[in-house]
Amino acid sequence: MAKTMSFLLVPLLFLLAAADTHMNVTDNPADQLVSVINNNRTTHKSSSLYSNQGLACIALQYIKAYQGDCKAVGGPDAKKPFDSQFAETFAPNCGVQVSTLSPITGRLLGCQSKYVDPPKAFSEVLIENQKSLDILYDKNHTEVGAAVSGSDGGGPYFWCILFSNGKKNSSFVLDGGVAKITQTGCFSGANDACSGANDRSRSSHFLQFVVTALVAVGYAFGL
Ligand SMILES: *[C@@H]1O[C@H](CO)[C@@H](O)[C@H](O)[C@H]1NC(C)=O
Ligand SMILES: *[C@@H]1O[C@H](CO)[C@@H](O)[C@H](O)[C@H]1NC(C)=O
Ligand SMILES: *[C@@H]1O[C@H](CO)[C@@H](O)[C@H](O)[C@H]1NC(C)=O
Ligand SMILES: *[C@@H]1O[C@H](CO)[C@@H](O)[C@H](O)[C@H]1NC(C)=O
Repeated sequence: MAKTMSFLLVPLLFLLAAADTHMNVTDNPADQLVSVINNNRTTHKSSSLYSNQGLACIALQYIKAYQGDCKAVGGPDAKKPFDSQFAETFAPNCGVQVSTLSPITGRLLGCQSKYVDPPKAFSEVLIENQKSLDILYDKNHTEVGAAVSGSDGGGPYFWCILFSNGKKNSSFVLDGGVAKITQTGCFSGANDACSGANDRSRSSHFLQFVVTALVAVGYAFGL
């Protein structure tokens, strides 16, 4: 009996954790990218950066400003959203209080037709040359936000990292403490699951994750 109980306890605890949206999930490519960045920075003796949810939500808005146009990211047709869009569109869309917007001390942006995992996106899509390494290791950064998004129906996949020198608890502050979800895609810092970049909705994927967990448990334990 005791043995059976402990067998049941593990999946049960897992389900309880899965039901709590504030669980510590790493199943989010944007969070994984932040982890790659921080590991790379610390081995390079730069500080580890605070993962700011508001800044990351803005990074997703930043991607959306490209409207799926990969060619506008780099090369001769490169474009950049106007700085004014941070206060006018990006912050309101996320629920970030405009008065808490802080300087952006660096950005890394990449776009590719194929989806690759976060470590590959980092080394093959985002870090291209010495200039991107200088941005990565800049000593001015204190916090980071990352986002990944595919255009509707799949690629191209955009990756965006924004760095800021804002203070951890007084920059990119979110109304109610949670970013408004208005777009498809994944962003870091929210402590939530978000799989791939094709998401129609983060919460429906979260449910799918819970359902998958249930099915797996049902299969393994014949519940
Ligand atoms: C998530 O868990 C890992 C390992 O247990 C820990 O190092 C990390 O700080 C946690 N992150 C958050 C946001 O709680
Ligand atoms: C970093 O800080 C230094 C000194 O305050 C400043 O000169 C430099 O422009 C800053 N770099 C960025 C990318 O903001
Ligand atoms: C950090 O990233 C750069 C660029 O991808 C890479 O060349 C370097 O080897 C990485 N450093 C570590 C310690 O992983
Ligand atoms: C901000 O964070 C610092 C240290 O992390 C803490 O000492 C301070 O009380 C916090 N301020 C607010 C307003 O939460």
